Amino acid sequence: MSDLVVRRIGRLTTWARPVVPDAALVIRDGRVEWFGPDRELNATGHLPELDAGGAAVLPGLVDCHTHAVWAGSRRDDFVGRLSGAPYSPAGIHSTVAATRAASYDELRAFAQRRVATMVRNGTTTVEVKSGYGLTVDDELKLLDVAAALQGPSVTTTYLGAHVVPRDRDRDDYVDEVVQTLPEARSRGATWCDVFCDEGAFTVDEARLILTEARAHGFGLRIHAEQMTRTGAAALAAELGCASADHLDHVSANDAAAMAAAGVVAVLVPVASLYTRSGRWDHATTLTKAGCTLAVATDCNPGTSWCESLPYAMQLACLEMGLPVETVLRAATLGGAQALRRDDIGHLGAGGRGDLVVLDAAHEADLLAHLGVNGISRTIVGGSPNG
Ligand code: NIG
Ligand code: FE
Repeated sequence: MSDLVVRRIGRLTTWARPVVPDAALVIRDGRVEWFGPDRELNATGHLPELDAGGAAVLPGLVDCHTHAVWAGSRRDDFVGRLSGAPYSPAGIHSTVAATRAASYDELRAFAQRRVATMVRNGTTTVEVKSGYGLTVDDELKLLDVAAALQGPSVTTTYLGAHVVPRDRDRDDYVDEVVQTLPEARSRGATWCDVFCDEGAFTVDEARLILTEARAHGFGLRIHAEQMTRTGAAALAAELGCASADHLDHVSANDAAAMAAAGVVAVLVPVASLYTRSGRWDHATTLTKAGCTLAVATDCNPGTSWCESLPYAMQLACLEMGLPVETVLRAATLGGAQALRRDDIGHLGAGGRGDLVVLDAAHEADLLAHLGVNGISRTIVGGSPNG
């Protein structure tokens, strides 16, 4: 955890106060100590200084849904969809085969490269799921890889319930996922997730797994209503999940139940684009119901080969029709809420010194300027990373 003074900030977004023009920000021991007009900055002794050169600064981006640990490629699925083949979770099996065949070191190198790209694109906290191992040992290997990743803050999620492996009996596999929970927890996973959809797990299976997970101290998340409406979002409300993610097929009643239960709605618009679902209206349904929104990359080889959270944010604006400020909040504060963290996603006093310096004078330009990396510096815990 470092000390840093950021000066000559053109526009500083903290979410603690309105945007501060011509601002400075002081980080001590990795925490925000002070921010305000640059001209009011008191002498800071020998703290290292960063000159933002008039650029806009935002809280570091929080990517609360990724599957960043995998080997192999799904380019054939991608090509197939261009000639009209629909997305199928069955594609997960080919990634599982490639991932099982890779060593720990290979997997770590692949994932580390992806996470470094995320940081260059502004991510300072990332959630990483297992889910491409699907044996006890392979799932634990993926959790170990996730826990070893360097750069951003990492939180890990056990997703043994991604799909039922081809060679396994359903009930036996669900039982194995449940039996693996204590070991997954001891490898540092704090979250448990289930892919609840046609071709993956049923609502009853998800309820069983997540209820057991809660008893073992996990926080809960769920892949819900992605390809079909199954009732997974209502289950998220029933169980008090921290988030329900995807939600392309969510109903107004589901959304109301989520809002009442404080379940954060995680939008993953790159997956909607990549699978060519053509569905964007769920963001409006969720907003109307009063849900807290987050936006995430869902970085994975099958439905969202994308490390850039700003790209997901741009789709949230342009395809889902969400306003700029809503999307900036969703990718920072919303992600933090989805991870039940109050020390990230904002730059109020005491918050973590995680921030991004944009390659632009105004924060809206991160969304308006397409096809470039709009981030010029990413600072994690007060230490310049990228
Ligand atoms: O979040 N929906 C489930 N899991 C991933 C896709 C996994 C894959 O196709 O490899 C997702 O979209
Ligand atoms: Fe996902």
